[in-house]
Amino acid sequence: MKLTEKVIVITGASDGIGKEIALGLSQENCLLALIGRNEKRLASVQKDCEKRGAKKVGIYSCDVSSLSNVAQTVQSIISDFTEIDVLINNAGIWQKLGQIDEMEDSVVDAVIDTNLKGVVYMTKHVLPALRRQKEAIILNISSKSGIVAQDGQAIYTASKYGVRGFTEVLVKDLADTNIHVAGLYQSGTNTKMFEKSGQDFPVENFSEPSDLADIVTTILSQPPKIWLQDVRVEKC
Ligand SMILES: NC(=O)c1ccc[n+]([C@@H]2O[C@H](COP(=O)([O-])OP(=O)(O)OC[C@H]3O[C@@H](n4cnc5c(N)ncnc54)[C@H](OP(=O)(O)O)[C@@H]3O)[C@@H](O)[C@H]2O)c1
Repeated sequence: MKLTEKVIVITGASDGIGKEIALGLSQENCLLALIGRNEKRLASVQKDCEKRGAKKVGIYSCDVSSLSNVAQTVQSIISDFTEIDVLINNAGIWQKLGQIDEMEDSVVDAVIDTNLKGVVYMTKHVLPALRRQKEAIILNISSKSGIVAQDGQAIYTASKYGVRGFTEVLVKDLADTNIHVAGLYQSGTNTKMFEKSGQDFPVENFSEPSDLADIVTTILSQPPKIWLQDVRVEKC
C-alpha cells in the first residue's frame, strides 16, 4: 500500500511500540487516529507526529476493553476522518510472571479484556469502514508469546494465542476482500510494559520499539502483489 495520506488507526499509541509506530508513519505523511487512555501522553505524541510530517493527527481517549467506548470512538474517528484505511491493534498489557492460582482475578480480567477482547472489539467496529476502501489492512500486534508457551505467562500467553487464532481466521474470512490481514509476533522489546505491571525485568537488551516501528512501516508498504502475513521478529 502507498501510505501517503492513508488514514491509520493505532491503538496503544500513547507509549512504547504504538507511539513509535505513530512517529514512523508520520514520516510517510499519513493521517493518524491515535488511541490510548492517557490523554496527556496522547497529546504529546500528537505534537511529535505533527512535527514529523503527519498530515492530520486525532487523539481519542478510549479503553479498548470497553465495547461501548470502542463503538463510540470508532464513530468519532469516522466522523473526523470520513474513512479508515488501516487498523493497527497494538494496545496491550503485561501480566506479572506467576502461577495462575496466585494471580489477582483483576489481573486475569484486565489482560484478557485488553489484549484479546480489545482486538476483537476494535476489529468488529472498524471492519465496515475498511470494507468500503479499495485497499485496506488490519495488523494485529501479538507477541512471541502468541506462538511459544513460556513459564509463568499463562494469561498473557492465552491472550496472545487468542490474538493469533483470531488473526488467522480473519485472514481466511477476508481472503476474497480488499482487506489484507497480518500478525506481528515479536520477542521482548525495550518499553515500560513490564515495569507498569510491577515486573522488575532488565529490558535494556531487548529490541528497540523504533526498530519494530520500521518493520510495521515495511509490512504496510508492500507492493500490491506481495503480502507479509505472519511476521516473527527475534532479537539478535
Ligand atoms: N514490550 C514487549 O516486550 C512486547 C513484546 C511482544 C509484544 N508486545 C506487545 O506490543 C504491544 C505494545 O506493548 P508496549 O511494549 O509498547 O507496551 P507499553 O509501552 O506499555 O504501551 C502500551 C500501550 O497500550 C495502551 N493501553 C493499555 N491498555 C489499554 C486499554 N485498556 N485501552 C487503550 N489503550 C491501552 C497504553 O496506553 P494508555 O496507558 O494511555 O492506555 C500504551 O499506549 C502490546 O500488545 C504488547 O503485548 C510487547
